[in-house]
Amino acid sequence: MNVMVTGGAGYIGSHAVQRLLADGHDVVVVDNLFRGHAEAIELLRTRAKGGSRLSFEKRDISRTDDIEAVLRERRIETIMHFAAWTYVGESVQNPMEYYANNTAGSLSLIRACERSWSGGHGGVKRFVFSSTAATYGEPPADRVPIREDCPQLPINPYGASKLMVERMLADMVSAATRAGREFGSACLRYFNVAGSDRTGLIGEDHDPETHLIPIAIQAAMGKRSEMTIFGADYPTPDGTCVRDYVHVEDLADAHATVMEAMRLGRSVAYNLGIGRGYSVREVISAVERVTGRQIAVKSGARRAGDPPVLYADPSKIADELGWRASYIDLDQIIATAWEWMRKHPEGYRS
Ligand code: UFG
Repeated sequence: MNVMVTGGAGYIGSHAVQRLLADGHDVVVVDNLFRGHAEAIELLRTRAKGGSRLSFEKRDISRTDDIEAVLRERRIETIMHFAAWTYVGESVQNPMEYYANNTAGSLSLIRACERSWSGGHGGVKRFVFSSTAATYGEPPADRVPIREDCPQLPINPYGASKLMVERMLADMVSAATRAGREFGSACLRYFNVAGSDRTGLIGEDHDPETHLIPIAIQAAMGKRSEMTIFGADYPTPDGTCVRDYVHVEDLADAHATVMEAMRLGRSVAYNLGIGRGYSVREVISAVERVTGRQIAVKSGARRAGDPPVLYADPSKIADELGWRASYIDLDQIIATAWEWMRKHPEGYRS
């Protein structure tokens, strides 16, 4: 299949590209390299063998005409849309950037997709969207573990910026279906994505880094003198926030599974998580165990926009498509992140 991967030079997108190439698909990565890494694409080229091809277009999804041209020229049938800004804290500080990049950027991409329908190859038929557990906001305790029918009431602009795209896609599928056009979409609501490619080729490199596991590993490596727990007074067993950590390769596998199984004319949503939560303190202890090093930890104020407990009920995708996370042990997930960060202490070169 011809697949466009937006944000394919980023952390999750690059792992999806690796999986698509392994499955023999032709992949066009579209990335503006604002936060993505050109080196990830270069490394992935070494994986593009056995008939599959990888090409790269340095473009911005907000340029509808540019994207439309790529969709037509490359006869794209499926879009996997990862390109986005993804920091909860930053979204609270700078909400309009999130609505511009995530919501308006996705609208531009969806418009390009719609225009591709008048092309000779029939245009885009499948749209797989990187959504987030942040669309659920702060679910009441009796709605956790979270199912897909839990009310989506985001408490930060990041979650809101993604929820609007879910809505756009659902409306677009309805309109396309009424018009007799074959088109389907899937919104994949990620919980906390972690870990790295088990072969060590690609990994997680954010600038700035704000995510718990890489920060704890950096502290264990001595790249930070200490780390801060953002809030130890939450209504949770040890007072720190609880999250569901899902391995990035399992996520890539879920994308491949959803793409292959997608029924046109439907818009679906699936939670992607392992189905259990770990507290911030439990994660820090696991990083100490895996790295064999002590981490200097201090308690700080809560971070704006953080809900206390988020973990998935992932049974819908298991029942419907047979997808389950293969990494269910936190230490194993962290071990893959540690392996990559140990070998690439400065991350990517570009
Ligand atoms: N945390 C700390 N100290 C740090 C960094 C993080 O205590 O130095 C805490 C956070 O406050 C939070 C938890 O660790 O309670 C996890 O934080 P992350 O920044 O790693 O992840 P988030 O839960 O904020 O967000 C992630 C993704 C979002 C996604 C969300 C869904 O980045 O895109 O998971 O669960 F929406």
